Amino acid sequence: MSTVYLNGSYVPKEEALIPVDDRGFLLSDGIYEVTPAYAGRFFRMDRHLARMRRGLGELRIAFDPERLREVHRRLLADNGLEDEEVSIVYVQVTRGVAPRTHAFPEGRVEPTVYAFAKAFQRPPREAWEQGFAAVTVPDRRWARVDIKSIALLPNVLAQQAAAEAGATDALLVKDGVAIEGAHSNFFAVLGGTVVTHPRSNAILPGITREYVLELVDELGLPAEERPIQLEELLGAEEAFFTGTTTEIRPTVRIDGRAVGEGRPGPITKRISEAFHEGVRATAAAGVGSA
Ligand code: PDD
Repeated sequence: MSTVYLNGSYVPKEEALIPVDDRGFLLSDGIYEVTPAYAGRFFRMDRHLARMRRGLGELRIAFDPERLREVHRRLLADNGLEDEEVSIVYVQVTRGVAPRTHAFPEGRVEPTVYAFAKAFQRPPREAWEQGFAAVTVPDRRWARVDIKSIALLPNVLAQQAAAEAGATDALLVKDGVAIEGAHSNFFAVLGGTVVTHPRSNAILPGITREYVLELVDELGLPAEERPIQLEELLGAEEAFFTGTTTEIRPTVRIDGRAVGEGRPGPITKRISEAFHEGVRATAAAGVGSA
């Protein structure tokens, strides 16, 4: 049975209950974060907490995410995940419990804070070597997806469309531009340059995306942050998605058409190797565990 965190207490999941008036339940009025741990060491927790702090500020939910460091550590320990190769901690903060109104509730309402930890299963090596399929889906999300809001209905529908098409990822497309995945960022290799959508209100600024851009720089590969036209992808050499629960995932088919050679390409492989070395080194050094 797993132990979860709810509003200051560590309890068996079955006992973690929230009132039906929670604004997260009624209005999706909240925010979430997912942070990975490699061999029990959190990877770039500071950045995940900083992103959450920024989102909470944008939504004007009064909560200091600094308090979550200990929650992260404790959930790994209580769930026996400290030696797990990869695990994740999910945290959600909602505006709290109050009679349903669209405007913020009057008076002081305590945010609801919920967190759980679980082991993360990578796809088998052979599946990675084959590569994965994606389908394009119209990006029907709101205009502030830089905020990691729990309102994920368009993402849910996009991912379901991918699943029904037999694909692993949904590539969200807006005005002819490949924006990002339903729960990941998107990169393409175009004419030898690693390209990804620039930071804006139109994408979530992924922590993995940022790390990949650092690795690309260290590897001495040319990189560009600019919108990728969907039609450019017809000539892309390689493509991949990045994210906490995606890591580096090579895309070898988009809407049934092969990307490049139809296999994970050399640049994707180099980036993936550097990524795995990087997170392993972090775990070994204990960096980022605080
Ligand atoms: N998703 N874009 C979207 C829309 C996302 O939901 C995510 C993460 C990312 C990648 O961000 P990061 O590299 O910081 O994980 C990009 C999380 C993991 C989820 O919904 O489970």
